[in-house]
Amino acid sequence: MKQSLKLVLPSKKYLKEWIAFQKETLAALPIDNPDRAGYEKHIVSSLKPRYFKWLRDDRLGINLEKGMVQQTIWWGMVGTKIVGRISFRHKLTKTLREHGGNIGYAVRPKFQGKGYATEMLRLVLKKVAKLGYKKVLLTCDDSNTASWKTIEKNKGILDRKEVIDGTLSRFYWIKL
Ligand SMILES: CC(C)(COP(=O)(O)OP(=O)(O)OC[C@H]1O[C@@H](n2cnc3c(N)ncnc32)[C@H](O)[C@@H]1OP(=O)(O)O)[C@@H](O)C(=O)NCCC(=O)NCCS
Repeated sequence: MKQSLKLVLPSKKYLKEWIAFQKETLAALPIDNPDRAGYEKHIVSSLKPRYFKWLRDDRLGINLEKGMVQQTIWWGMVGTKIVGRISFRHKLTKTLREHGGNIGYAVRPKFQGKGYATEMLRLVLKKVAKLGYKKVLLTCDDSNTASWKTIEKNKGILDRKEVIDGTLSRFYWIKL
């Protein structure tokens, strides 16, 4: 099934799907998970008329909020279903070097464990290589086995493990 996965730029056409993706992701998070607030805020933002302009500006690197960098988000789609999302941050700030790196991703809970994250990352790395990048940084919690396996399956080289804000994190480089 993963062979039919395509990366598409966000479009209003699939807004309902995108909201469903976020609501299902939020519902799967434990009640004390600190990421919940971000998802709740993002669901509200997604419904605002300027949401797609905001994504476009991020993609072009214009009108960015302080501390934010140019970022391109793609939806991983199988047919008309959004199975995941993946983003590429075009530059590394001090904050991103410690947490987040160049690439972040998530797969909708009911589609996890089917190889979609591995495939989304493979496809994004091809796009990033075409943009001229030679290497990208990926970070994840040491306890996030699914995430570091996704990175290692895409030739991620473990640079180091380090405790950041009390959490043991892994830092990987992928050469393009
Ligand atoms: C991390 C995440 C994106 C992985 O997505 P996925 O589509 O399930 O991943 P894949 O199916 O491509 O699997 C990649 C590898 O992880 C393994 N894996 C998947 N889910 C797993 C789990 N819950 N526990 C342990 N390993 C897991 C797979 O078996 C596979 O390894 P294998 O080929 O050696 O068997 C997904 O779990 C997710 O969205 N998590 C929440 C958001 C997140 O953590 N994002 C990353 C932040 S750094």
